[in-house]
Amino acid sequence: MTQASTELQELIAEMEQRRRKVEAGGGPQRQAKQREGGKLTARERIETLLDPGSFLELSTFVEHGRNRLMDSVEAPGEGVVTGRGTIHGRQVFVFSQDFTVLGGSLGKMNAAKVTKVMDLAAKTGCPVIGLNDSAGARIQEGVDSLSGYGEIFYRNAIYSGSVPQISAILGPCAGGAVYSPALTDFVVMSQGTSYMFITGPEVIKSVTREEVTFDGLGGADVHTRKSGVAHLSYEGDEAVLAGIRDLLTYLPQNAREEVPAQPCADPADRPNPRLLEIVTPDQRRPYDMHAVIGELVDEGSFLEIQPNWAKNMVCGFARLDGRSVGIVANNPKVMAGTLNIDASDKAARFIRTCDCYNIPILTLVDVTGFLPGVAQEHAGIIRHGAKMLYAYAEATVPKITLITRKSYGGAYLAMNSRDMGADVVYAWPTAAVAVMGAEGAANIVYRREIGKSENPEATRAAKIAEYRETFDNPYVAAAKGYIDDVIPMEDTRRRLVQTFEMLRGKEEARPYKKHGNIPL
Ligand code: HXC
Repeated sequence: MTQASTELQELIAEMEQRRRKVEAGGGPQRQAKQREGGKLTARERIETLLDPGSFLELSTFVEHGRNRLMDSVEAPGEGVVTGRGTIHGRQVFVFSQDFTVLGGSLGKMNAAKVTKVMDLAAKTGCPVIGLNDSAGARIQEGVDSLSGYGEIFYRNAIYSGSVPQISAILGPCAGGAVYSPALTDFVVMSQGTSYMFITGPEVIKSVTREEVTFDGLGGADVHTRKSGVAHLSYEGDEAVLAGIRDLLTYLPQNAREEVPAQPCADPADRPNPRLLEIVTPDQRRPYDMHAVIGELVDEGSFLEIQPNWAKNMVCGFARLDGRSVGIVANNPKVMAGTLNIDASDKAARFIRTCDCYNIPILTLVDVTGFLPGVAQEHAGIIRHGAKMLYAYAEATVPKITLITRKSYGGAYLAMNSRDMGADVVYAWPTAAVAVMGAEGAANIVYRREIGKSENPEATRAAKIAEYRETFDNPYVAAAKGYIDDVIPMEDTRRRLVQTFEMLRGKEEARPYKKHGNIPL
């Protein structure tokens, strides 16, 4: 063996030894603790998320920013693993925080690894996925760690709507650390092993005397049912990562591209006779809008977003003849499908997500109106409802509205009527478009007549029937062109596929502006 090759071998051995040290993270004991807690390690998560063998690691040998408190501290890999890989053959960038290294805490160089992949994602037009498991700002690095967060938040905001950003929450997410996930498009939590909060139970106890557990304060249940902070949750890391792989099939690589179509075995012209059983003309008989959606979309393709929060509004992705669509629908089974603050926020956000990623929107309408109540008014239903109006009007993707039954008052407009920018509006024969329901309308318009009548109840019933006959149907709106067609229910899937096909390539310009000013 020559001198040169021995030297080279030594260099290679050093590289491998250094790499092995980085790959070992916080060491076997801390990794065992991680697994005992039902969690995968940072590298196992990446392997599980990406297509096999596709991971290319970057910034492997980055070390922490030195200071007096950190000089003697070892942090292999700087507490985060970063790089690129593919999911279903499409490139994504990923960072995976390593809780076994200083609790996955975020220092300046840890943040530099993260921002490196965020920048590459933006430059190459690819999604970025953050696997969060971190104790927050690295206390020993002081303001440097705060600055690191700032650099990440800044990129979360400026790349928002340019490339999809998805956050998995797979462990603690405390303090300011929750704001990076909150700035991304989707937050997906693991049940029982993750939590998100601004201030923890101990601080809360000392300030407000409230006693609460980590899970009760910011676990997956809280954020998918009460706060609306998280969009999806699954049991265990594997399920979360599989969920993210699935979610990506509905999204494009970036704002300039369309979502690739998937092969579809479900016939585009499949008739939908079951709809006639689900939706009856009796306006007071509730039905579950999920059943309608399931009947219309490609079999098994509906991925509901925020399924357990604001259940009166159903939002989710699906495919129609293999093409991704966003569905926004009232659910008459919950609170009669009325619009309240949470439902408005949920829908507005989802509409904007669809619009920025070129995903056409199907709106299914069965709504009596906004939820009346002092609490709603005082909490700002006007401001929140306005978000929906704004989001629909702003969206330039193809928009189809289908009125399945009631569409009354302000909610008629908030659910993307013709005037609010729907490209095509369909109604079923069961539809009723009016300012309000027949009972309410008759009581207001004919109050004097009913009051003076010898038999007020009979007069009231007659007036209600008269009003219903005149307005409680789709034909008044269809006659004025507000509805493009009243369609046979069993032929709906075929028509939706054809109409979205018709709208493909739609372009709509907006007047110059720096950006709009959506009511927040
Ligand atoms: C540096 C930290 C750390 C931190 C934990 N560690 N938090 N190191 N900075 N913020 C270290 C621990 O010393 C320990 O090191 C290892 O990580 C694991 O921590 P444990 O406490 O043993 O783990 P566990 O019992 O599972 O508890 C996890 C935890 C707890 C609940 C997250 O560590 C915790 O409360 N940490 C502090 C959280 C926090 O207050 N962060 C700052 C938030 S403020 P060893 O060597 O023993 O393994 C913030 C501001 C951001 O983030 C502002 C942006 C706007």
